[in-house]
Amino acid sequence: MQAITVRDRNAGLAGMSLTDMPYPHAAENDVIVRVHAAGFTPGELDWPATWTDRAGRDRTPSVPGHELSGVVVELGYGTTGLSVGQRVFGLADWARDGSLAEYTAVEARNLAPLPADVDHTVAAALPISGLTAWQGLFDHGRLTTGQTVLIHGAAGGVGSIAVQLAHEAGARVIGTGRASGRDRALALGVDTFIDLETEKLEDAGEVDVVFDVIGGEILDRSAALVRAGGTLVSIVMPPKVQPKDGRAVFFVVEPDRAQLTDLATRLRDGRLKPVVGAVRSLADAPAAFGPGNRTPGKTIIRITED
Ligand SMILES: NC(=O)c1ccc[n+]([C@@H]2O[C@H](COP(=O)([O-])OP(=O)(O)OC[C@H]3O[C@@H](n4cnc5c(N)ncnc54)[C@H](OP(=O)(O)O)[C@@H]3O)[C@@H](O)[C@H]2O)c1
Repeated sequence: MQAITVRDRNAGLAGMSLTDMPYPHAAENDVIVRVHAAGFTPGELDWPATWTDRAGRDRTPSVPGHELSGVVVELGYGTTGLSVGQRVFGLADWARDGSLAEYTAVEARNLAPLPADVDHTVAAALPISGLTAWQGLFDHGRLTTGQTVLIHGAAGGVGSIAVQLAHEAGARVIGTGRASGRDRALALGVDTFIDLETEKLEDAGEVDVVFDVIGGEILDRSAALVRAGGTLVSIVMPPKVQPKDGRAVFFVVEPDRAQLTDLATRLRDGRLKPVVGAVRSLADAPAAFGPGNRTPGKTIIRITED
């Protein structure tokens, strides 16, 4: 089968190529998925798990990309909950070969069924941004109806999903970002938008939850906005400044079938719209990874047509 591989940590992107690879092995509780569409994170060549397994052993050549949508073609021993021929989408393990491949082995519990009328290209754009937004708002931020949430980077990949989820949950949503993102953020459900380059973040007033995707000085200044009992959540780094009378949380997204299933229902109903950017072929994936080739929205690698 064909896959995109990276071979040499020092070479990074220069060592990325389209390669013939052995068909993957379905370990216990795995499924093999024929990948129709895949997503990647531009920074993943900097992640240790791209180069080594959980025990720290070199695992190159490794296949990047961890978001996928496709069809189950094989079940490993003992695998339950999914069947051959089923449409699925989800998140591949960080420390195993990923989704920029014609076939990939994934633990079944990291995947959810995909409704027949949801396109693989759209579904592949959702696992990381959808799960991160969900877990940040509701698991870590404990956001509830009637509360106020401030979402940094509201027009970006994770922020735009967080805005839609928070708005639908009945929260008042303050979004931030640059002027170029204002109209998109307002259209997605932001009640008030703050342009961080020309307006004062502190004008947001007190909020119950801050959801940060920017980090640094913006994150540190956000701690003072959290009202008593509230939460400062960051997906970029642990906050250096703590809210005076609240919690601060940094977390890394985890696979979750129940949350993926809920996200898929919202996709099907049109209540949730991930922003898909360029759609490229597997052979074009190395070029798509390059910093000069990014377009707004999530770049999707379309590998197999329906
Ligand atoms: N911990 C986790 O599990 C997890 C999961 C997913 C992502 N992440 C991380 O979260 C971060 C965001 O991911 P993403 O996919 O949402 O990125 P993205 O699509 O680039 O979105 C970031 C948004 O924030 C805006 N922004 C960034 N810096 C800004 C600044 N100084 N002032 C105003 N606006 C600013 C960007 O505007 P411009 O586009 O105009 O710059 C963009 O709209 C990345 O660092 C990613 O690695 C972590």
